[in-house]
Amino acid sequence: MTIEIKDAAGIAAMRHACRLAADVLDTIAAHIVPGITTLEIDRIGARCMKEQGTVSATIGYQPPGYPPYPGYLCTSVNHVVCHGIPNEKPLKKGDIVNVDVTVITKDGWFGDTSRTYLVGECSIAARRLVQLTYEAMWLGIQQVRPGAHLGDIGHAIQSFAEGHGLSVVREFCGHGIGRKFHDEPQVLHYGRPGTGVELQPGMTFTIEPMLNLGKRDIKELGKDGWTIITKDHSLSAQWEHTILVTETGFDVLTLSPGYPPLPGFVTATTT
Ligand code: MF3
Ligand code: CO
Ligand code: CO
Repeated sequence: MTIEIKDAAGIAAMRHACRLAADVLDTIAAHIVPGITTLEIDRIGARCMKEQGTVSATIGYQPPGYPPYPGYLCTSVNHVVCHGIPNEKPLKKGDIVNVDVTVITKDGWFGDTSRTYLVGECSIAARRLVQLTYEAMWLGIQQVRPGAHLGDIGHAIQSFAEGHGLSVVREFCGHGIGRKFHDEPQVLHYGRPGTGVELQPGMTFTIEPMLNLGKRDIKELGKDGWTIITKDHSLSAQWEHTILVTETGFDVLTLSPGYPPLPGFVTATTT
C-alpha cells in the first residue's frame, strides 16, 4: 500500500477543493425545511457547483459492480445509512437528513464532506444521535498527528459511540483523498489503539463515522443498487470531514463560515 503525501501545492489545491465542498453544504443548510424534497436539495447543490466551476464527483460514479450513481450529492434520510439517492419525497418535520457533497475542482482535486441536518423540530433521540455522531467524528479528528496510527482514530470513535449505546457501521469507512475520490488508506471507524497505518505529514483522508441508534447491521435497499439502510430500521447519522496531517497535528480542510458549532471539547480546528 502506498499512501500519497501531498506537497505544498497539493495541500493548497486540497484546501481549495475542500472549502468549496463545505460551501455547498453552507448553501444547502438554509433550505433544509419541512416540505423540501431531496431532489430539490440535489438541484441546489448542482447549481452551487456550477457557479463554483466545480463538478460533482458522485454523478455517474460507478465503482465495479455498481450502477452509475445518479445524484449530484447523496441524501440519506432517517434509517438510510449512506448513499441515499435524491428523490421526490418531501422531508417532514422530525426527519434527519445527511447531505454528502464531493466536488472536483477544475484542476482535478477532490473535496468530500457531509453533515446531518435536523428537519424542523426533532425528537430527543434523533438530536442525541446526531450530536453524539458529530462528537465522535471530532474525537477521531483529534487523534490525528504524525506518529499516531489509524487504529487510534477508530478506537476513539468506537469506544465513545459504544459507550453511549450507539453502534458503528463497519462496512463503510473513511478514505484517502486527493486527485482520486477513494484512495488508500481505508480509515475504519472502529479499531485498537496503536494498530494500522502510521500517520505522516501530508496525508489527506476523510473521517466519516456512521452511527446507528440500534444494531450496527446494514442491508442494501435493493432496488437502486446504492441505498444502504439499517437492518433494524433504526436511525443512522453521519458526519464527514477531510483532514490533513500536519507536522504537529491535524488541519480540518472542509470548514466553511456556516459550519455548525464545534463540540465544547474542541479547542482548535488546526493544530
Ligand atoms: N461521498 C461519499 C463518501 O464519503 C461517497 C459517495 S459515492 C456515491 O465517500 F456514489 F454514492 F455518491
Ligand atoms: Co462523502
Ligand atoms: Co468520503
